[in-house]
Amino acid sequence: MSRRKTIAVVNGGGDAPGLNAVIRGVVRSAISAHGMRVIGIRNGFDGLIWPEGAKELTEESVSGILPRGGTILGTTNRGNPFAYRSAENGQEVVHDYSNLCLENARRLNIEACIVIGGDGTQHIARDFARKGMNVVGVPKTIDNDLSATDVTFGFDTAIVIATEAIDRLHTTAESHHRIMLIEVMGRDAGWIALHAGIAGGAHIILIPEIPFSFQAVCEAIEKREIRGQHYSLIVVAEGVKLPPADPNGKAIPPAGPGSVANTIAYTLREMLHKEIRVTVLGHVQRGGSPTPFDRVLATRMGVHAVDLVARGEFNRMVCLRGTRIECVPLEKALAEMKLVQPDSEIVHAARAIGTTFGDSA
Ligand code: F6P
Repeated sequence: MSRRKTIAVVNGGGDAPGLNAVIRGVVRSAISAHGMRVIGIRNGFDGLIWPEGAKELTEESVSGILPRGGTILGTTNRGNPFAYRSAENGQEVVHDYSNLCLENARRLNIEACIVIGGDGTQHIARDFARKGMNVVGVPKTIDNDLSATDVTFGFDTAIVIATEAIDRLHTTAESHHRIMLIEVMGRDAGWIALHAGIAGGAHIILIPEIPFSFQAVCEAIEKREIRGQHYSLIVVAEGVKLPPADPNGKAIPPAGPGSVANTIAYTLREMLHKEIRVTVLGHVQRGGSPTPFDRVLATRMGVHAVDLVARGEFNRMVCLRGTRIECVPLEKALAEMKLVQPDSEIVHAARAIGTTFGDSA
């Protein structure tokens, strides 16, 4: 009698709504469609360095997780096994635990590993593949900045949450004649800000891909004032690049995720003398139940990953192309990030309805 194939599922990096739906899709299809065993690795690749928490996942263990946010496996966005940083005697030391991970995977009889993660996690998966591990990647990030796939699961949920927040801020902005800034996630790419900004009817959208000036932002707000619209909503992607100085030559202090919208508001207050409020949406965008779109996408990606393992097609990453779930070589998948193109149709559409990006266009 042939031995059941054992595969592992591991997720790494920040959580994203839909992670549990992928895990459920992997486990259910591996067991019922292919007769495989599935081992769940805990807390990213840390769980291959310390495999004690690794546990067989059954149909029972994934029952009820489809609508749940987070991940039943736990995760970490630290801990690259190829360069694992820790403190020893007060000193930072870096260890390469990759061989230990491969050894532990062998001990657990793992023949292939489905790796769910964003850019950082898929780079680790690629490095394991180069060392002989059979890997299939599933892309994950709410930022939607992986070029190999049209959409990542988690993105739809994030824009639904951000849009609802913009809608709620809209009513207060309008009633109080205020300028409201909302900072949304997007470390390198402005997709969340762009989509939620258009969906929420924001007046100004500031994203990393389109350099803005304070002058242009103030002009857009003043134009609205002249038209009798005494409030404005500004959506700021956390990764937006700040101009070095305000129009008076005063240096803008460095700021990053969590503080960038406040830094922009500080300068706008000095320039406009208007009431300005800031909301930093933060991890609210990543938490809670995935939308139906994300549940379906995540399920299809999980099932496709198992199909690839069953066919022996390794070192690939699952992706969505148009309406089809396909795959691309892992090496190719990581070649470049997907950024908002300033001359794209979606930016044109936003401009055409009067949205300003804080540039001179
Ligand atoms: O990459 C996804 C993301 O949500 C980014 O948008 C954000 O900058 C980052 O993760 C936040 O990570 P952490 O949870 O470690 O603060």
